[in-house]
Amino acid sequence: MCGIVGYIGDKKAAPILLAGLKKLEYRGYDSAGIAVQEKKAVKIVKKEGKLDKLKSRTEEEVFYGRTGIGHTRWATHGRPSDINSHPHTDSFSEIVIVHNGIIENFRELKEELSAAGHQFKSETDTEVVAHLISTYYDDDLRTAVNKTVERLEGSFALAVMSRQEKDKIIAVRKDSPLIIGLGENENFLASDIPAYLEHTDNFYILEDGEIADIRKDKVNIYKFNGDLIVNKNKTKISWDAEMAEKQGYQHFMLKEIHEQPESLKRLLEDNLNGGQIDLTASGLAEDWLDNYDKIHIVACGTAYHSGALAKYLLEDKLRIPVEVEVASEYRYRNPIVDAGTLMIVVSQSGETADTLAALRLAKKKGASVLALTNSRDSSIARESDMVIYLKAGPEIAVASTKAYTNMVAAFYLLLVDGMRQRDNISDQITAEYTSDLIKLPEMIRKLSEQSKEQIQAIANNYEDKENIFFIGRNTDYTLALEGALKLKEISYIHAEAYPAGELKHGTLALIEEGVPVVALGSRADIFSKLFSNLKEVKARGAETLLITEENQKFETESVDHLIELPILNKDFAGLLAIIPLQLLAYYTALNCGEDIDQPRNLAKSVTVE
Ligand code: AGP
Repeated sequence: MCGIVGYIGDKKAAPILLAGLKKLEYRGYDSAGIAVQEKKAVKIVKKEGKLDKLKSRTEEEVFYGRTGIGHTRWATHGRPSDINSHPHTDSFSEIVIVHNGIIENFRELKEELSAAGHQFKSETDTEVVAHLISTYYDDDLRTAVNKTVERLEGSFALAVMSRQEKDKIIAVRKDSPLIIGLGENENFLASDIPAYLEHTDNFYILEDGEIADIRKDKVNIYKFNGDLIVNKNKTKISWDAEMAEKQGYQHFMLKEIHEQPESLKRLLEDNLNGGQIDLTASGLAEDWLDNYDKIHIVACGTAYHSGALAKYLLEDKLRIPVEVEVASEYRYRNPIVDAGTLMIVVSQSGETADTLAALRLAKKKGASVLALTNSRDSSIARESDMVIYLKAGPEIAVASTKAYTNMVAAFYLLLVDGMRQRDNISDQITAEYTSDLIKLPEMIRKLSEQSKEQIQAIANNYEDKENIFFIGRNTDYTLALEGALKLKEISYIHAEAYPAGELKHGTLALIEEGVPVVALGSRADIFSKLFSNLKEVKARGAETLLITEENQKFETESVDHLIELPILNKDFAGLLAIIPLQLLAYYTALNCGEDIDQPRNLAKSVTVE
């Protein structure tokens, strides 16, 4: 959600800024702009729409400058337009700024500045910050920015330049990520690591309440109180630039779907020790289950769906109460959470604003927080007491696939590790579960290959549909939720998920001739119940797709399309059933001609609430 880039060094800044923004496209945006320090002035080009538009606009201008900042904007205050795009300036174009986040008190500040004679060009909260900095500016940009942030409420990552001080970029972080890439006689600024991976693997991760003075040959980082931070830790990133490229796939999403066997294997191997699950590296005690009387799982979107699935399994096997809730609800009620609560927050990006706020709320009330996240050094990783890293590698497509798989797998690891601690579950059963888990990556690989053509054929049939329903029971219901979300977010076809048994309490009224219904039947234990619901929709004209394990017995006349899954432990079959759902969403969106990796209105990292 919004992307910031910055460059200071000996090379021309504009192409480096544009390339950095390109790498951040996945975050989601509706306009973009750059500002470069030229001899006499700061030159700004900004444009509503995709980066290609900005690029052709920059080609009409000549940029020589070696210092600059850039931005992709995801509109919050004011519609997407050239004027509302970043960078913004004060009245005299002395101060130039890009911003991620939301300034909550911008109205009050705007009134105050307007009364003092400031005139605003845009509807954004960001422009107010540029004006405020100019009121404090007295030939020392860092001090002016520092005074400004003391007046700001909300979340922000800022990159600021001054026309007077061409040799520096000032960057600030509060509740919105910002990293500084360190090079030889050049330094980079970005809201996420992939922006500059091809230039460096050495980064400073700014913490909340830090302000950086970035020059081409040095970076000084201060606290908001002015103290210089000595010996700030540098982070070495092990991903290479290649990992964040498409590598011949038409879309990142397809590449990421096909990476799942490898990334899942990485997670499992990382948490196995001599064939046994060992989660102690996360900070969990060996007998962690004894320390808690309940579990709260809190997350958003796809990450929430992984938690919804986990609730069924953890309660069934471990007999511990598990609540699962979307973070934006959890944070604004008064949940019963205390020192006996294990709070599990799940987040690919590790920066989701609502999840972070829920984490802080639970911590304040005494809960222990375990994060399942893909992002080392993210805010959620740093603020949690314990962390299981998902090890999915960079996930660029907005629609999450391989991170979801590893979220679910991380819950499987917790499940089996918990089973080991329960006296009523034999060592043999725990060992069988562990060995089933290890089989998953290879089974997923085969299934993705084998089901591809069949799914493409079904997707050809879906592209003109207006509504598609997904049904399932138990963990299969949570897969239905994820399948429906995946389809709607990238194909824009309306899709809804229902617990199969709930259909006849209202939704069945929407089923008519030709409406597709995807029935998830991966769980052999309740297959017959699911199949009765499938027959109900078939009787009303639905076009049915059944996803179930091979050799399952049923009346074939009720099933229009069938996808068979290899047979595995019913509790782990979900990670097989999700593969056809991901591919179905992908190929349907491909047929619809949509922008698969960057669906409209959506952002990869949702850093505002
Ligand atoms: C996934 O396909 C979605 N784009 C979205 O629901 C996502 O899972 C959600 O925004 C949470 O993100 P996080 O995992 O980074 O916290």
